[in-house]
Amino acid sequence: MLGIDVPIFAFSHCRDVVIEVSKAGGFGCLGVTYQTPEDLEAELKWIDEHIGGKPYGIDVLLPAKYENLKGKRVTPDDLPKEQEAFMRRVLDEAGIPPLPEAERREMLQKRLDHINMTPQQIEALVEVSLKHPIKTLVSGLGAPSPELRDRLHAKGILIGALAGKAEHARRHKAAGVDFVVAQGMEAGGHTGTITSMLLWPDVVDAVAPLPVLAAGGIGRGRQMAAAMAMGAQGVWCGSIWLGTRESEVVPEVKEKFYAAGFEDTVQTRMRSGKPARLLRSKLSDAWARPDAPPFAPMPLQTMVMAEPHMRVERGKLKEWKYYPVGMVVGQMKSETSVRQVIHDMLNEFLEATEQLTQLVNSD
Ligand SMILES: Cc1cc2nc3c(=O)[nH]c(=O)nc-3n(C[C@H](O)[C@H](O)[C@H](O)COP(=O)(O)O)c2cc1C
Repeated sequence: MLGIDVPIFAFSHCRDVVIEVSKAGGFGCLGVTYQTPEDLEAELKWIDEHIGGKPYGIDVLLPAKYENLKGKRVTPDDLPKEQEAFMRRVLDEAGIPPLPEAERREMLQKRLDHINMTPQQIEALVEVSLKHPIKTLVSGLGAPSPELRDRLHAKGILIGALAGKAEHARRHKAAGVDFVVAQGMEAGGHTGTITSMLLWPDVVDAVAPLPVLAAGGIGRGRQMAAAMAMGAQGVWCGSIWLGTRESEVVPEVKEKFYAAGFEDTVQTRMRSGKPARLLRSKLSDAWARPDAPPFAPMPLQTMVMAEPHMRVERGKLKEWKYYPVGMVVGQMKSETSVRQVIHDMLNEFLEATEQLTQLVNSD
């Protein structure tokens, strides 16, 4: 369907990862939620210039439930007061310096302008993307509208959608998607509560004969072999690329990844208002406290977190830093490269399939 050599798909916010995966024979998909349309135009132009004609796609969020901001530009004054005050109190008590007062507003506004989660904003990003040779559009949350589906199909663009339950996958199929990404709860980013082991075969059966990509907890070849054995046509990975040299993740956070175990992630609504898995930190611990306010709806919760995020970043406070990552983090031990990950994954996949064949053929 896509003209790729190996069925390894990468979700990444980082253009370098996207091109490296596609150049290695897989399929890179750029997450486009935190760019302005102008930034996105520049990123896609760069990808077109560096990907050597290999295919790639984009991933957007199409949430069914969100705070309807009616196309209004959100300013620092519009942020939910209770949640904002809570974060300020927590960081002040921990002695984390505030942003410099003179620049605070401008810095925050810039950050808010990069959070694109409402339908109007997504529409603008899709518009930009359609001017580039994208081969797929994948939806991280929700299914595309009939209008969007028809527009994409008219251009020969394949549509995929993430599902954490068979019920969601059936809904995506009914909406006319071309493939489903079945994402187990081990995954980084927005996740449901069903493990990959149970979810993958359930979704494969639910949407057959639509192709299914398996996601959530895949970072090596034996996991890929398990996914394919359960009926997946390929694997969709997000976390494993974060530990590569091509990834945009800053060195201090990479170090935290390499030191982390399988149990060092949490599922919390802290980042976006919807449940998402990320590296546990003092910030996620704060939101689990009994005195924490309710989470704000999407996209306001993400906006509330903009200032704490900048305060923590500027303070170089390792214990407070967080980043969306899946349980796979527990098997990331040192910096690799995209090519190395793919090479190792394929080798181990082949070993695992040979081992299975021997088992089946043995007397
Ligand atoms: C840092 C990060 C951000 C993510 N953001 C999105 C997103 O915006 N849209 C989306 O469809 N999936 C997102 N995901 C989920 C990935 O698409 C993918 O399904 C998931 O990472 C697979 O599980 P794994 O983390 O175990 O590889 C994100 C994952 C990570 C690690």
